Amino acid sequence: MNRILGVLISGRGSNLQALIDAIKHGRLDATIAVVISNREDASGLERARQAGIEAICISHHGWLSRDDYDRALVDELRRRNVGLVCLAGFMRVVGSPLLDAYPNAIVNVHPSLLPSFAGVDAQRKALDHGVKVSGVTVHLVTAELDDGPIILQRVVRVLDDDRPETLADRILQEEHLAYPTAVGLLLDGEWRIEGRRFLRARTSAAR
Ligand code: GAR
Repeated sequence: MNRILGVLISGRGSNLQALIDAIKHGRLDATIAVVISNREDASGLERARQAGIEAICISHHGWLSRDDYDRALVDELRRRNVGLVCLAGFMRVVGSPLLDAYPNAIVNVHPSLLPSFAGVDAQRKALDHGVKVSGVTVHLVTAELDDGPIILQRVVRVLDDDRPETLADRILQEEHLAYPTAVGLLLDGEWRIEGRRFLRARTSAAR
């Protein structure tokens, strides 16, 4: 895996910004070759352009099939020699053309402690369920929604007076720390997958 990232977004792109900032400040050794949004109005596109990064919209509308759309994404990513695909609030299920083109090289950030509360509205689901802790999960992407080997998780306490927005804000702060860290771990390459487990070579050697 090279250190060239392609970032897929659907919205405001604050996790994209966290990657941009981590690269700028030397905390993440990578470059972002392209940012692709499936929505024209995603404000994350502007963040990318502000940072001098190519940013394009490929709408998911108007394709004959989901696979055709995914193939178009693969074409754009390959054309720029992208080695790792970072989903940053990309609100679409990734299909086999993308998964086959990037095996164990697509990463996602999700605002809950998976496997709890996959899908949309994870923070509201956590509150409705009454859990006392939630958090952030960064994981490799598989064909299942918000599934795949977990790279890292960080815990956020749920407070009695939390609303979905307040919990989401605190989780987002942790996302912004966790996502660049996890991307860095992946790029360093000293890891393996055993079953569902993402294991770091250094961690087991140190024991
Ligand atoms: C983030 O909270 C991210 O974890 C979530 O969407 C938000 C995007 O924010 N992703 C998912 O729920 C994926 N299932 P951002 O556009 O500001 O990065």
